[in-house]
Amino acid sequence: MDLRPHLIAERHGVRHEILVGDITKLAVDVIVNAPNTSLLGGGGVDGAIHRAAGPELLEECRRLGGCPTGSAKMTKGYRLPAKWVIHTVGPVWRGGTHGEERLLAGCYRTCLDLALRSGIRSVAFPSISTGAYRFPVERASRIAVEVIRAHLDQNPLPESVLVVCFDAATYETYARLLQET
Ligand code: APR
Repeated sequence: MDLRPHLIAERHGVRHEILVGDITKLAVDVIVNAPNTSLLGGGGVDGAIHRAAGPELLEECRRLGGCPTGSAKMTKGYRLPAKWVIHTVGPVWRGGTHGEERLLAGCYRTCLDLALRSGIRSVAFPSISTGAYRFPVERASRIAVEVIRAHLDQNPLPESVLVVCFDAATYETYARLLQET
């Protein structure tokens, strides 16, 4: 399978890409986490980010008082190579009739707007909600790519946006979408 990065968009000579990898290893300004509303840790990418960042991340999260679905809060990155973490709570998939698509689009949009306001230059997203929250990857990938492209068309920051897929199946779904659009 072709695991080379696939292009989401190219703006002013900068390639915004989908790639396979472990988001906790990326030395970007911000990595986005997919926690639950408590922000007090969990499994999946949330667990991986807390393990890599160390206990100070949880201590800071404790002081944030949680985060509603579709919203986002920013913390330091501590022992991560990334400087900061934006925590955004994705929707649990309940069949698609409970505003899940609107809420997921809101996660990407809120993170990008927060990055813009904070002068962030590089952001890496995981595939939000498509693990434990069971959001169908094909629908989620369309939403992610659509919101990222729209933001890049209207805003100078972030200068670089990556979507990091942890497994080949997720990556293939994103790559197939990008070949179609
Ligand atoms: N790097 C990049 N992506 C990762 C990593 C990693 N190190 N680890 C997992 N992922 C991927 C998963 O494979 C999936 O494609 O992140 C995507 C999101 O999956 P989850 O982490 O399960 O997140 P989500 O579906 O949004 O569910 C959130 O799970 O861990 C709990 O506390 C969390 O309750 C919250 C829920």
